[in-house]
This record gives sequence, C-alpha cells and structure tokens, in this order.
Amino acid sequence: MSPKQDGAAAQAPAPAGDPAARAAWLRAELERHNYRYYVLDEPSIPDADYDALYRELQAIEAEHPDLLTPDSPTRRVGGQPLSAFATVRHTVPMLSIRTETDTESTGAEAFDARVRRELGLGEGDAPVEYMAELKFDGLALSLRYEDGLLARAATRGDGSNGEDVTANVRTIKSIPMRLKGDAPPVLEVRGEAYMRRDDFDRLNARQREAGEKIFVNPRNTAAGAIRQLDPGITAQRPLRFFAYGLGETAGWDIPPTHSGMLDALEAFGLPVNKDRRVVRGAAGLVAFHREIGERREALPFDIDGVVYKVNRLDLQRRLGFVSREPRWAVAHKYPAQERTTTVLGIDVQVGRTGAITPVARLAPVFVGGAMVSNVTLHNQDEIERLGVLIGDTVIVRRAGDVIPEVVAVVAEQRPPGLDPAAGPLPEPYRRFVMPDKCPVCQSHVVREEGEAVARCTGGLTCKAQRKESTRHFAARRAMDIEGLGERHIDNLIEFERIASVADLYRLKLEDFLDVKRLADERDGVVPETVAQGKIATKWAENILEGIAASKERPLARFLFALGARHVGESTAKTLADWLGRLAWVRRAPLPLLRVLPDVGEVVAESIYEFFKEPRNETVIDELLRYGVVPVEAGRPLPALADKLALPVLLAALGVPKLTALRAEQLAQDLDSLDQFADASPEWLAERKLPADALASLQEFLERPGTRAQLRELSALRAELLAELPAPGEAAQSPLAGKTFVLTGSLPTLSRDEAKDMLEAAGAKVSGSVSKKTDFVVAGAEAGSKLEKALSLGVTVLDEAAMLAMLPGAANAAEPKGEQS
Ligand code: IVH
Repeated sequence: MSPKQDGAAAQAPAPAGDPAARAAWLRAELERHNYRYYVLDEPSIPDADYDALYRELQAIEAEHPDLLTPDSPTRRVGGQPLSAFATVRHTVPMLSIRTETDTESTGAEAFDARVRRELGLGEGDAPVEYMAELKFDGLALSLRYEDGLLARAATRGDGSNGEDVTANVRTIKSIPMRLKGDAPPVLEVRGEAYMRRDDFDRLNARQREAGEKIFVNPRNTAAGAIRQLDPGITAQRPLRFFAYGLGETAGWDIPPTHSGMLDALEAFGLPVNKDRRVVRGAAGLVAFHREIGERREALPFDIDGVVYKVNRLDLQRRLGFVSREPRWAVAHKYPAQERTTTVLGIDVQVGRTGAITPVARLAPVFVGGAMVSNVTLHNQDEIERLGVLIGDTVIVRRAGDVIPEVVAVVAEQRPPGLDPAAGPLPEPYRRFVMPDKCPVCQSHVVREEGEAVARCTGGLTCKAQRKESTRHFAARRAMDIEGLGERHIDNLIEFERIASVADLYRLKLEDFLDVKRLADERDGVVPETVAQGKIATKWAENILEGIAASKERPLARFLFALGARHVGESTAKTLADWLGRLAWVRRAPLPLLRVLPDVGEVVAESIYEFFKEPRNETVIDELLRYGVVPVEAGRPLPALADKLALPVLLAALGVPKLTALRAEQLAQDLDSLDQFADASPEWLAERKLPADALASLQEFLERPGTRAQLRELSALRAELLAELPAPGEAAQSPLAGKTFVLTGSLPTLSRDEAKDMLEAAGAKVSGSVSKKTDFVVAGAEAGSKLEKALSLGVTVLDEAAMLAMLPGAANAAEPKGEQS
C-alpha cells in the first residue's frame, strides 16, 4: 500500500483529445514534480516546463469547470482575502515541550535518567529507545486530512483553539493537497511551517530591489506569512513544512513507535525531515546533540535545538503529561551563537527611496564566526518592540550567513529604577528618537500611515538618496554603466558634480579629474602619477565611454533604472512590453496601470505617483535631452486591446460597488469613455443599476478632476488602440488558427509574453506537441517536446523566427525555422 520513496513514477501521458484523462494526468504530473522539488529536494523538470503543464491544466479547467477537483494544484492559489480567521478547536490539544536549560550533554543525561525513573527501570534494564529530531524554528501547524484530502489547516493558538489558515497553507507546495496511498478517513498531522535561509535571503533581495521592507528573520517571516489575511501574499512567501507528530486520527492503525509513525507520514507524501534518528539511551542522545551541533550552521534552515521523544507509543502513554507538557519529550538547545555587547549609539542610514533605517553601533563582538559592529534595527517599531536604549547591553545573534540581529535587551544590566519609557535617563543611557529631519539633507522625514518605514522627503536633493539612486541607475541590470563604480558615484555626488542621474550624461573629463583631485586631497593621498607631475586620464575616459554606451538601453531597463518604488525588473518589463513607448508609460493613468498583468494597486499607485512627481518629470526630460534614447517597440502589445475594452477599464476605475458585471452592463450603453465622462445624473439614473452602484458612480463622477481624468484616459486609449492591429486583422494574420507549442526558456521573452503575442496574432498556444501542432518554438534546455516535434516532423522555430512571423514584424514573410 505504501508508495515508493521517490514518489509515484511518471504515468504515460494522456492524449490531448480526452480532457478528463488529460487533466487527471496533468494533476498527477504536477504533484509528482512538486513532491520531487519540495519534499525530496530533487527537481525533475525545468521551471518553464512545469509552468507549461500548469497552464495547460488551468486552461482545461477553465474550459471544463466540471473537471476541477478539490486537490488540483491550480487550487493552491487564488483564495479571497479574509477579514478575520475562523477559530478551529483542536480536539487533541497542541502541546508544547519542556525545554532543557542545560545545553551540555548533562542535559540529555538528565532527561534519560528522569524517563528511566518514571518507567521504574533499574540499572540492569536495557537502554530506552528514543527518536531524536531537529527542533524547527517556525510556526506550529495542524493539518487535517479527511479521506486523504487536505480539509483544514490551523495554527496552534493557545493549544486548544487555533486559527483556520487553510487558504494560506494550500499555497505551501511541500504540503500535499492529497495524501498518497491508502489514507485513513481522518488524519491530523502536526508540524512546523518554516522558511529556508536561502529562500529568505532571496525574498529580501526581491524586497530590496522593489524598495520594500526588509524582513527581520526567517522565523518571524514564516509566522507572519501564515497569519496573512490575503493568501495571495502568503503565496509569494517561500514557505515549507516538516511533519513531526499527530493530532486526531480515525480509522488508522497507528504504528507502535514514533519513528514508525513518521515513516508512515513520509509514505503518505508528507515532508518529514531526514535528520531524524532512532537512538538508544543517554549516549545516543548526546551523540545526536553533538553531531547536529556541528552541522547546525550548514543546515539550510534555522533550528532551535533538537527534540528527544520516547520512541514507543505505549511507553509515551505510560509516562503521560505534566500540565501541558509530555513527560516523554524534551527540547534540548545549544549554547547560543549569541553574545552580549553594548549599544554605543543608534545611527540612521538613508536608502535609495529615502527609507530611514536605524542602525545600532555596537562595541564589536565576535559572534557566529564574524565580527559584528553594526546591526540594523529596521525601523521604529522594531526599536520599540525590543525596547532598546542607547547604552543598553543587548544580545546579538548571528547564524551562518544570516544578517546579525539584536535579539533582546538584557534588562538586568540596567541600573535599578531606570524607566525606559519615561523620565530622565542616567548616563550613558539615551532614547533613540527618529530624526524629523534627514541627517544628510535636512529635508523633512515623514512616516506615512500604515507604514513601518520613515522616509526622507528630499528625493533627489538628498545626497544619500542621490548616491543610492545613482548606484541603482548605473547598476549592471539597469543602465549598466561600465566603470562607474560606487566610489566614483559617491565622489561625484560629494563634490556636487551631479544633482541627478541626468547629469551623468553631461560630465566631462575635467569633472572626473577635478573630483579625483579633491577626493585625494580629502583622503590625504598623493597618487604616484601626480608625484611624478603627470595626470592619469585613461580611467576617466573609460568611464565616459561607459556612460556614452549606456545611452541606448531597452525601455524596460531604463524604467527599472529610474528606481520608482515597487518597480523591479519584471514590472519594468511589463510596462515596456505592454505599452511600448516611454511617452505612454509616463502618461498612463491609474486605471490603465491597474489592468496590466501583475500590477496591483500598490504598484499602480507607485508608478502613477512617480511619473506625476515634477522632480522625476524633470529628470526624465533631461535624460532625453542629453541624448538618452530608450530603445522601444513603439507600439503596444496586441493583447492590450482586451485590456482596453470599455468594461475592463470601467471596472478598473476604482468606483466602489461597480463590479465587473455592472461595468459590463454599463459599457453596453457606451461608445466611448468620453461619453461616460460627460454623463449626466439623468443619464446614469436611466441605467438600471442597483441603487448603491448608482450612488457610488454619481459620487465618483462629481469628484473634482474625475471627468478631466476620464477624458485623458479616453484620449490615451484611443491613441493606443490606433496603434494596434485593427479587429479582423489578426484573423487575416498568417498565424490565425495555427497551433504553437512553447518549450525551453527563450532568450528575451518569458513564456507568458510569447504566449500573449502569439494569441494576439490569432494563434493558439498549446501545452503539448501532437501531429496537429504547426510550430514548436524552442529555447534553451528544451527537452522532450522538442524531441517529439522533431520526431513528428513539426517545424521548429527559435524566438527570433517566431517574432519575425508576427504581424508587423520587419520581415513577416516566411518562417525561418529549421524544417526537420
Ligand atoms: S513535538 C507533544 N517536535 O516546538 C510534543 N515540536 O514546544 C509536541 N517544534 O511550537 C511538539 N520542532 O511547533 C515537536 N521536531 C519537533 C519540533 C517541535 C519544532 C516546535 C513546536 C512547538 C514547540 C514545542
């Protein structure tokens, strides 16, 4: 009954002609790859192929809703945001474990001695068998499977009542939606949701790139992600899960040992950590504790120690509980990779988007393998949470390559009677006060409502923001200005040679040489060449060349380089691809931004505000004036036509109560947005809309500025539509009705983009190759689909050949693909 360790073997693909069989096959395939990737850590296909299977399943389910099953991988995302979590009662309470405070081997010996005493074992009796496991550092969860299907997931809460977090937990790919094998009618699995350190670092890198808040540590981030009301946000957090115990079960013969039970959970397809071992007696526990202690830094996730559990369940029952803690288990920690030190001061740093980050200056300490003298305190809330004062003794932690953090204040080290919250403080204690002026440019510092981060309002007048934004602008993935390193940027700004990134394009050789001389004077260096009475200029010429070469970069990079908050590389690419011209991106009103793929409300507002800001307008105008010419497609993506449809734009206006359905209704009576902009209350009243929607619409139209904005949107819409292929043109396109399959990763387009382009040209994009396939577009690492295409004699194209076939392409004549 138990499936094989490596997951079910791949089944022969089901024919594309039978949607039910195909959907079932796709589901099994996707879950098999999920399992290989997230549970066994052995990826089995390229991401792009996985995406193609996923999309094919999505398409089938959209076309045949009756084929949708509750365990479909497509169900992992897409839950609606909640206003609150429902309460879940744990019929079997979620207990905690006692922690052994003695972190030495004597701690393990004491536990074994206690267990033996309680069990009445004497010296001559055999050693007790234990299960030794890792103690994961995340958030405890209880997963309830009914007839093998994930029915509910809950947090621990107070142990008796937790919160229903099912929609969030579904997004965790290592948690199976359906158990493998012969699952019992009821099986509650207990375990820990956690985040790996590498996933955490990547998440923070993404956050940083988008100018978003930086998370403090993997544990808090994992716990926060599970307790998100919007499952869409949880889905973006790289969470994982390990099972370590049971809750309620029915209709299952629980194996007689804890180790047997974990093996059974593993066979059901649940992730169970490999670093677990059945050991005998105190010596076995000590050896495990020591071994894991040595490997701790190398583990991909943080642990909080190890856990020992008496292996035989009958013995567990005999030992029972004291209060809410079992006598048969204990957590054994490690001497912390933590040190105490003193906070000498709290400085603030100003980032690219003006974020002001308090940083604790510490008396240097060696912790977790490195010297630490600065630690970020993130923001005001974090300082308040810690209650840290300048002068305090604090515990600093650093694990592996994780950024060091302040864990807590050692309050006992403060003089008695000191009140951190009020009143005068004795020397050397001081409270941190977030400055109300930027320490670099003296502009006002504001903290917007609902934001944890305080920001300098100086924008590009602030030297700190200028340095950071210039670094970002020149970075390899942005304008890629070769030779212009951080040191040069800092000096150019320090000595007032550039007020904004636009000034880079006005720099002359003398500017660089002057700045170099000033910097050398400041640093007290006399370069060799100067001592010899010569002036080196080659380096500066190289930078000037680098700057000149950066004038022509693709629009997407240019937009990314501008550094608007929330506009990372992918958002920049979306804007460039869909709108096709800088001028249109600059003019795009909010509703137009909202309808673009993957642009949510926060991002749309950020883009809109950025381009409306006069300072930014000036910089962009100057860049263009100084010869920067973003390379642009010049026309929108044909798929934009759908997004510009009246009902779509009306629904995106952000009018409360104007649902998509009502927008559709309203659009039927409209020829253009202009007509809507001019709508009179009488006209609206005739629209047969429910009273609440009507009132909301009238209120919206009467808001000052609304009608003018609608006219602007209407004008831009008309302009964009005029650049798109006329309706019917796509039908006459040479691609109309042709079936394409995309495989492998294409050099410049993402799968979605290629698909959108092909579909806009009237082609069909399918997930699998058959005799009916007209073209296969193959990129790097194309696998079985390419082979199949070759064996069936289907025409294979590369990306360039595909682009050339699209209507409007420079040579749309004949496909250049290899015929095989
Ligand atoms: S067993 C009855 N095993 O530690 C025993 N707990 O205080 C119930 N934890 O928040 C827990 N790793 O989420 C157990 N291998 C492990 C664990 C573990 C982490 C957490 C658990 C709970 C706390 C127990």
